[in-house]
Amino acid sequence: MKHISIKESKNHVGEEVTIGAWVANKRSSGKIAFLQLRDGSAFFQGIVVKSEVGEEVFQLAKGLTQETSILLTGTIQEDSRSKFGYEIVVKEIEIIGESHDYPITPKEHGTEFLMDHRHLWLRSSKQHAIMQIRNEIIRATYDFFNKEGFIKIDPPILTASAAEDSTELFHTEYFDQEAYLSQSGQLYMEAAAMAFGKVFSFGPTFRAEKSKTRRHLIEFWMIEPEMAFMDHEQSLEVQEQYVAYIVQSVLDNCEHALSVLERDTDLLKKYTELPYPRISYDDAVVLLNENGFDDITWGDDFGSPHETFIAKQFDKPVFILNYPKAIKAFYMKPHPEREDVVLCADLIAPEGYGEIIGGSEREVDFDALTQRIKEFGLTEEDYAWYLDLRKYGSVPHSGFGLGLERAVTWICGTEHIRESIPFPRLLNRIYP
Ligand code: 4AD
Ligand code: MG
Repeated sequence: MKHISIKESKNHVGEEVTIGAWVANKRSSGKIAFLQLRDGSAFFQGIVVKSEVGEEVFQLAKGLTQETSILLTGTIQEDSRSKFGYEIVVKEIEIIGESHDYPITPKEHGTEFLMDHRHLWLRSSKQHAIMQIRNEIIRATYDFFNKEGFIKIDPPILTASAAEDSTELFHTEYFDQEAYLSQSGQLYMEAAAMAFGKVFSFGPTFRAEKSKTRRHLIEFWMIEPEMAFMDHEQSLEVQEQYVAYIVQSVLDNCEHALSVLERDTDLLKKYTELPYPRISYDDAVVLLNENGFDDITWGDDFGSPHETFIAKQFDKPVFILNYPKAIKAFYMKPHPEREDVVLCADLIAPEGYGEIIGGSEREVDFDALTQRIKEFGLTEEDYAWYLDLRKYGSVPHSGFGLGLERAVTWICGTEHIRESIPFPRLLNRIYP
């Protein structure tokens, strides 16, 4: 007897197979029972006909409770009524693990209840679809950067210095020394770029941000490419090609997941068309002021209503270029013709999903960088190794960071970032 997964059923039409699954839902009449089954690979229906299986198996099927795990044997057949396209006509059922009073019933539940039961909520078809898409974005990321000649380098998680904003560090002990959880692998990736040319990282990052919004996680995963001998303009091209590539990969390989999420794929198709529009920070401020945003003056950072408004002027992700030096990180290179802005860009996703990428060309001048480190109140000795990169064959280089969960939320079209990661860490939540 062949053990197969539900996903493989299309290759076994007409065959008798055995599948290990959980009962997601069930409905039955006096003569027939319909089991909604899931096995992690997919969801489909099992049909149990009393006149064919006999009284004993039929009663067993009728009594199955939600999330009971079973081994079932039967014949795969096509099912034109379901989107999945196949079902199993059951012959035998063996109970593996019983399940009583499963807390997440098919009725509506509040968000906090679902978040408290995240370990179980992950089993739902919506969460399954989101994680399929997350997985596809990760797969496509490796694919894209490997194809483009990048090598993956893993920066450390425990660090002795801040890469971004020092107020948002998670403190920990490193024996008798103070240490932090990484906010970004960037500084290490710059060292790696000087060693390997084109590199990318993919790992968890941590920000003790007191932001309770639908876009912020405390722990999130970031993809950080860094490229030697590359100016910011060239980096923007890599960024848009990368984003278009992951969107296209999801369109190509996650059709079913997108339909479960009822995602508008015409919108997604539009996001694969390059180039993406660009607007300077200066022009963005003017645009906002002309449209009633009196709360923004030149020099302010944009909040989510501002980003959303700017994004709405375009039908694709938009780059906002050259922010004021004072509101960006110490390592960014000033604009060659303007000391007050830096060579950087944020990529803002459409539909109100906010910033998905932050990137810049890096300061390469030893003295200028030392000066910036001092201005930011950072300790020079902590950055001695980073400054070394400017002493021994310094070259122009640029890089960026894409927040994986921001990208997942946007591509899935889901409301809140908390569903884009299996176990979200939020301002008020570290359980489960
Ligand atoms: O703009 P950020 O802070 O840039 C950096 O960390 C750079 N060192 C990256 C680089 O150049 N190598 O963060 C990059 C991206 C943001 O655009 C956003 O997508 C995501 O990381 N991000 C968050 N995602 C979820 N929750 C948070 N609290 C996030 N903070 C940033
Ligand atoms: Mg940013």
